[in-house]
Amino acid sequence: MLTPTSKPLATIDAGDLFAAHEAERYDMHSRRLNAQMVRVLKTIGYDVGFCRGAGAYLYDREDVRYLDLLSGFGVFAVGRNHPAIRESLKSVLDAELPNLVQMDVSTLAGLLAERLLAKVPYLQRAFFANSGAEAVEAAIKFSRAATKRPGIVFCDHAFHGLSYGALSLTGDDIFRKGFEPLLPDCRRVPFNDLAALEEALRGRDIAAFIVEPIQGKGVNLPDDNYLKDAAALCRRYGTLFVADEVQTGLGRTGRFLAIEHWGVEPDMVLLAKALSGGHVPVGAVLTRDEVFAKVFDRMDRAVVHGSTFGKNDLAMAAGIATLEVMEAEKLVENADRLGTRLIAALHALIPRYEMLHEVRGKGLMIGVEFAAPQSLKLKAAWHLLEAANKGLFCQLITIPLFKQHKIMAQVAGHGSHTIKLLPSLVLSENDCTWIETAFDSVIADSHKVPGAVWSLGKTLLENARR
Ligand SMILES: Cc1ncc(COP(=O)(O)O)c(C=O)c1O
Repeated sequence: MLTPTSKPLATIDAGDLFAAHEAERYDMHSRRLNAQMVRVLKTIGYDVGFCRGAGAYLYDREDVRYLDLLSGFGVFAVGRNHPAIRESLKSVLDAELPNLVQMDVSTLAGLLAERLLAKVPYLQRAFFANSGAEAVEAAIKFSRAATKRPGIVFCDHAFHGLSYGALSLTGDDIFRKGFEPLLPDCRRVPFNDLAALEEALRGRDIAAFIVEPIQGKGVNLPDDNYLKDAAALCRRYGTLFVADEVQTGLGRTGRFLAIEHWGVEPDMVLLAKALSGGHVPVGAVLTRDEVFAKVFDRMDRAVVHGSTFGKNDLAMAAGIATLEVMEAEKLVENADRLGTRLIAALHALIPRYEMLHEVRGKGLMIGVEFAAPQSLKLKAAWHLLEAANKGLFCQLITIPLFKQHKIMAQVAGHGSHTIKLLPSLVLSENDCTWIETAFDSVIADSHKVPGAVWSLGKTLLENARR
């Protein structure tokens, strides 16, 4: 018999296990998981052994605090280890709920669906999956079933995930190469090109046009009229307009959905990442009644699409708690306000630094783009580096940001000259000052040749040639 204070025999204490073995993490991964990832971390000096996360921060072994501008690729919008999310998750376990009965329907999924759809009142139905890619897979199948058409149109430089359907809609060749053949009938058009979109839709064989309102790879913004006109074209040709808000949704850009900036009402909205507060994998498709009526059209097709863990209680409770936290802490408003401040402050640096080309974004999804310099000394150094490996210059910014200023940021895609800021939405004014001071200092150093930053460039070059 268990007494209330005793633990079941096989209980593990994750904290103790972590503490006892965290020093072996790089060795274990080199030996048993993806060794290339360990090489990357060691090369750029990110192998500091993070031991704790709280809010917008990570702490290393020495308890040094880092400002995390990656936020787990955007999943920690409400901050790492938010106490309300943690307590909500514990409450699920403590309540011993009838999770995943399968031959019943989930109460918590019903509640999360109601709350999400209340924020997107022009859509009526929700489907829950386990990741962003799974939400994209569902969108492909639902669009085909709803329209009885085969084609899907996606944009150049788009990122929709890495499972086969999602990968077939990902416009970045580095991800596709080596994995072909991909799904047939997927057509790529340039982002921001309405004529190309119309050309693709004209044959009336396209089920859906899938688009990120702001492209994650590169932080590419749509032209002012692009999304609205694209939605109108879709309507004209009977194509569903699918907004992939896996990264941009849930307050990231200073609106609940990014698409609200342009006043568009999509036929489908895809969510994931931040929806569970970062703790539990989750994905969601929000769509119209008519789409569900076509997909789940008979009793014997009630389970025609789904996934075993979809709608699990931990994910659903975390989703409900996340929406509560966002509202209570006014995180959408915070993202809007601090994003505006950061974009203005970083933009103000442009006249001072010839390699700082552009600062763009919305809310707390910000791209800082660099470009080749004009002055001879810098030009020679830039081209030497870029000839070895396109995009390497950005590491001359991100490495000192990390080492000297304890800020973790990364490049916005392969071969990109844009650094992406994707922090937690709980960021503070002081954090903004931290970011602004650090970027100013590191960019200033990168404009000094010879200098410490370009010595680092030489080391990176040697590594790149190995
Ligand atoms: C816009 C977008 N769609 C889909 C995905 C895929 O999500 P996941 O990694 O959860 O499969 C991502 C991931 O970064 C994304 O940014």
